[in-house]
Amino acid sequence: MQVDGRHYRTIWPTADGRAVEVIDQRRLPHAFEILRLEDLESAARAIETMVVRGAPLIGATAAYGLALAMHVDASDHGIASAYDRLFRTRPTAVNLRWALDDLRQRLLPLVPGERAAAAWRRAAEICDEDVEVCRRIGEAGLELFRKAYAEKGEKKPLRVLTHCNAGWLATVDWGTALAPIYMAHNDGMPVEVWVDETRPRNQGAALTAWELGRHGVRHRLIVDNVGGHLMQHGLVDLCIVGTDRTTARGDVCNKIGTYLKALAAKANNIPFYVALPYTTIDWSVENGADIPIEERDGREVTHIWGKDEEGVLREVQIAPDETPAANYAFDVTPAELVSALITDRGVCEASREGLEELFPERQAGVGPA
Ligand code: MRU
Repeated sequence: MQVDGRHYRTIWPTADGRAVEVIDQRRLPHAFEILRLEDLESAARAIETMVVRGAPLIGATAAYGLALAMHVDASDHGIASAYDRLFRTRPTAVNLRWALDDLRQRLLPLVPGERAAAAWRRAAEICDEDVEVCRRIGEAGLELFRKAYAEKGEKKPLRVLTHCNAGWLATVDWGTALAPIYMAHNDGMPVEVWVDETRPRNQGAALTAWELGRHGVRHRLIVDNVGGHLMQHGLVDLCIVGTDRTTARGDVCNKIGTYLKALAAKANNIPFYVALPYTTIDWSVENGADIPIEERDGREVTHIWGKDEEGVLREVQIAPDETPAANYAFDVTPAELVSALITDRGVCEASREGLEELFPERQAGVGPA
């Protein structure tokens, strides 16, 4: 995507092939800063501290983290300890495990002297593939958007509600849930997006609003509790979100609050779509209740970050001193509440049958979990 007339991805290798650079997402929308990750530890810290975030980008960064580790120790033990360090960074997005498994499986058969170059090549491929996969998600979603727009039978904008940030910042480029929005906008369809702020870290307010604004897509920021009201009053034509892990039966785990939006959409007969790359499907988990849910520092709830009038980024406290807080970062939306899954292989029902029809090679018992 373009930032000030220059095309960016969210992660890219440096010319010398010894490091990667990423956009520091903790500073957006107030500052656009690039960070250099030179070793395993800096890649792991970037994921942990949410310099980079979003399921596909977490996977891509982990792949480069493992590749960077191979410059230092390309032994079997080096692979295992880099894998463990990266795997421990964040628990919910399954793309992390997918990318680490993919690299480990390719590197172990090689002699150590070949591993760094092979890991570097594969990490780059994972990034390129993610861009293509997200582009395909965009195309599949665009068909649904066209249908919804045609069905409105009036020349009014298609009103779409999204939660968190599932845009290009969450992937390598394009995004998942936002990819069809960008494609519809590029195609000349009038689209208006309701952007949930997405407390506590405000990925909607900080990242989705910034992305959509840069691309010229009409949008309005709303607090997280507004969605139900908008849906009751006919102000939402469809909802679309991303997912950090999708089970074999189509349950989706996404940013906390997604479930409530799906319930409101069901109650108001509004389509609730979930966009995902194949790397987000966890075929080893059937029931969404078995997905590990990240619990983060309560300080993200009792405090909030923003820019003051002098333009300085500051954190301020919004709860009484010592207030205990609970900070669950994700929730599970059962398949029954999902109108359809939008994948890189097309659109399917959120069910085992629907997923297996699109991914026949992953039918029960076939292939690694
Ligand atoms: O905690 P985050 O910012 O990593 O959470 C991101 C989300 O929940 C996204 O919606 C999800 O990763 C899907 S993005 C393609």
